[in-house]
Amino acid sequence: MNQHLWSAVDNYITDLFAPEDPILDAALKASSLAGLPPHNVSPNQGKLLYLLARITGARHILEIGTLGGYSTIWLARALPADGRLITLEVSPVHAEVALANIRHAGLSNVVEVRVGRAVDSLAQIASEGRGPFDLIFIDADKPSNAEYLKWALKLARLGTVIVADNVVRNGMVIDDHSSDASVQGIRRFNDMLASEPGIATTAIQTVGSKGYDGFSISLVTDEPMPEIKAKG
Ligand code: SAH
Ligand code: DHB
Ligand code: MG
Repeated sequence: MNQHLWSAVDNYITDLFAPEDPILDAALKASSLAGLPPHNVSPNQGKLLYLLARITGARHILEIGTLGGYSTIWLARALPADGRLITLEVSPVHAEVALANIRHAGLSNVVEVRVGRAVDSLAQIASEGRGPFDLIFIDADKPSNAEYLKWALKLARLGTVIVADNVVRNGMVIDDHSSDASVQGIRRFNDMLASEPGIATTAIQTVGSKGYDGFSISLVTDEPMPEIKAKG
């Protein structure tokens, strides 16, 4: 473990590819001043979310877990003029901070923040006939991840990309006897991704300014993975 080096390299990468951005910096500052936990993605991870949204041409994005709206702003900036993002947050305090940050970013017309338990908002969104979403980012309470995946699949189409944050948790994810509800939740989520036939997934470990963690990327698909043929 070398957190000092990981942070220094993240600073190097961020200076090159996600340099100072007054609006995003202000969003983090306002979040911290309001006492929100520093659980936002890092700048280079935010840029990854932005790039994934651009690469997939996403027009409708769903985010589960808003916090102060930092990842929300990265994702919403990737949308075309007629694009929309819905983000779900249980804490009215977090949602209020996020709304102010989103307004300051000039994204109020693009982003809708729904306050309440995400499972309730997801049921509501489905009952309104919203979706399908092109990109879904899961980053809220980890014990509920499998439940969020079920809803994500209902609100998806073939080609939808599902990204989940924090799937490695300092390596704790490999402990199949963990008493940590978040680890258990992530393991259930990963097992579901692995066993669900309609979805192709990988997970990537990351180190950086946010420590040692990782994310998964999934594609909703009806095509089986091509077989890797054994030699001979
Ligand atoms: N995506 C954000 C970080 C989200 S942190 C970013 O990268 O900037 C996780 C957020 O999920 C917290 O704000 C927390 O209040 C929220 N959360 C926790 N449980 C929730 C639930 N049941 N429903 C909706 N949001 C929840
Ligand atoms: C936690 C949650 C997150 O989404 C994150 O990125 C980092 C930490 C947490 O609950 O500890
Ligand atoms: Mg996270």
